[in-house]
Amino acid sequence: MTGAFSPVPGFPDVRPRRLRQSAPVRSLARETDLLPRHLVLPMFVREGLSEPAPIGSMPGVVQHSLDSLRRAAVEAAEAGVTGVMLFGVPAVRDAIGSGADDEDGILNVATAALAAEVGDAVVVQTDLCLDEFTDHGHCGVLAADGSVDNDATLERYVAMALAQARAGSQLLGLSGMMDGQVAAVRHALDAEGFQDVLLLGYAAKYASAFYGPFREAVDSQLEGDRRTYQLDPGNRREGVREALLDEAEGADIVMVKPAMAFLDVLREVRDAVRVPVWAYQVSGEYAMIEAAAQNGWLDRERTILESLLSIRRAGADAVLTYWATEAARWIARG
Ligand code: PBG
Repeated sequence: MTGAFSPVPGFPDVRPRRLRQSAPVRSLARETDLLPRHLVLPMFVREGLSEPAPIGSMPGVVQHSLDSLRRAAVEAAEAGVTGVMLFGVPAVRDAIGSGADDEDGILNVATAALAAEVGDAVVVQTDLCLDEFTDHGHCGVLAADGSVDNDATLERYVAMALAQARAGSQLLGLSGMMDGQVAAVRHALDAEGFQDVLLLGYAAKYASAFYGPFREAVDSQLEGDRRTYQLDPGNRREGVREALLDEAEGADIVMVKPAMAFLDVLREVRDAVRVPVWAYQVSGEYAMIEAAAQNGWLDRERTILESLLSIRRAGADAVLTYWATEAARWIARG
């Protein structure tokens, strides 16, 4: 081929930098948005506290008292965050996690308080898992041989789901990774008239070292690991399979967790299901960026916003993040 024009479009006709020449042009060309409505704030509430208690492994995050929890939820709502996900830290634990379905248990009391305070402005959500409430720290009840008993655990999840729905939770986060948990809870809720309570299936939840700092946040009693129920970090196909199963069981939303180390799974799940997909930016993702920012090794605000944008770009419709309120304020400020 001779002459100035090639049959294959290319330089100098094609100049991708045209789309980057000014802020307004870049704004027109931007593919992915991060808005306050895409953010959900996970919160910890601990029984018996009169003041919030700092969590050493997650600088800037606290275990809340009931009062500080209410105030923080109002602040999140005012910042435009659209959901709060509650985790309870009980004073007493036992083998079956009795505190989880006790109407006077910390998580259910806190849920009722938040539903009354902010229930019209944000979606009040509750973690539905036994690990905070069991004295052995596993996400389910144990069989005689010490293994986690799937079907016996489903009965506990059903009791927990009904207690949370009665307390006013609008969305239950099924994070325990038991087989059949979505269907079991959906049927039980519907039989009691809770058709409108939403279910978030933690579909692709990996047995991840990035949960490390969370263990201190909930005073976890776990020894050993969760590899008989959470996914092997090497498995992408299996994550998609779990998401399809949760969708078929009636999950309204499915989750990929952690977020940043599993963006490939997130993209594949987004393409495979037709329900909203959320991702959980977990405690280890939080702690890494905070530590580097504290040392001045990266720009804290830009790095946090980029991490959240990346999770959105990979396919998350919403993101659970400990930075939700702060990030929502940055976004609103522009
Ligand atoms: C267990 C649970 C965990 C997290 C949320 N729910 C820990 C685990 O599975 O070991 C981790 C969240 C985080 O690290 O931020 N129900």
